Amino acid sequence: MLDLLTNSEYAVACCDGAQGMLSLPDKSIKLIYGSPPYPNAERDYGIWKSSEYIDKISPFLDASVLKLRDDGFLVINVKATREKATAKMASKRSLVVEKLAILLEEQWNLHCVDIEIWVKENPVPTGLRVACQDAYEQNLWFSMSPKWTINLDAIRRPYESHSVKTYEDYEYKPRSNGLSYVRKNKRIQPNPLGALPKNIISGGVSARIGDHQATQPLYLPEKYIKATTNEGDLVVDPWMGSGTTGIVAITLKRKFIGFDIVQSYVTAAEERFKEAQKVVKGDEC
Ligand SMILES: C[S@@+](CC[C@H](N)C(=O)[O-])C[C@H]1O[C@@H](n2cnc3c(N)ncnc32)[C@H](O)[C@@H]1O
Repeated sequence: MLDLLTNSEYAVACCDGAQGMLSLPDKSIKLIYGSPPYPNAERDYGIWKSSEYIDKISPFLDASVLKLRDDGFLVINVKATREKATAKMASKRSLVVEKLAILLEEQWNLHCVDIEIWVKENPVPTGLRVACQDAYEQNLWFSMSPKWTINLDAIRRPYESHSVKTYEDYEYKPRSNGLSYVRKNKRIQPNPLGALPKNIISGGVSARIGDHQATQPLYLPEKYIKATTNEGDLVVDPWMGSGTTGIVAITLKRKFIGFDIVQSYVTAAEERFKEAQKVVKGDEC
């Protein structure tokens, strides 16, 4: 399959994503970014119940650690959904995402860069009356290497007005523990590339694309693709859906391979990729 990438920036296939990844050479992928079916979510493409979630996702993780480069990363965007209420039990939150995060270290020997939070500014109402409105998802960000390098400069953000004010008014000295600054010594300047990125991503959820029920906004994969890959690196999404990860990867001139088990999603994603590649090629002319 990687042969397809000699003449093209992307390749897609309709197949099980774990099997698809196994067809790639070992240690070839720089970033696996994807959003698997969420625990308990009832979708056109089936349900991965929380009770069987770890079994369902395990083949993907087995394939990931074989196929990621030694300096590669895995980012799984997932939402912890709730168990169905019964006559004796309220609809409790599933802890399977937390269990998955622990197993990524304990069973697959990956290293946790962070568990980032995507705050959804326009969450879909759930009608829930036994807990608060459900308004975030988790991005489980793991590294193959215990000593990783990420490109923070590529994901810096504009300074907030109060931080700019702080730079104007104070001078700081680094503490001996290297963590913070306490008293006047040497004036520091704001970084011209912007402030350090936060481990929270805020934004709206996406409008539906075609007939896919769970399209992500582009800004989610964008952060991790920019932070962990360079132009020409290979990004893979084993649960490609409408192709969000691929659009960003192609636009940022990374190579992309995507898998999905639903043929209509694969066909629609490929159409989107053709358009994205036309724009990239047009920009180069
Ligand atoms: C949450 S959606 C991904 C949405 C995607 N990130 C987007 O922005 O459109 C999960 C996707 O996983 C796909 N899927 C489910 N089981 C799969 C499997 N065994 N192999 C590959 N894809 C699978 C579904 O068809 C669905 O498109």
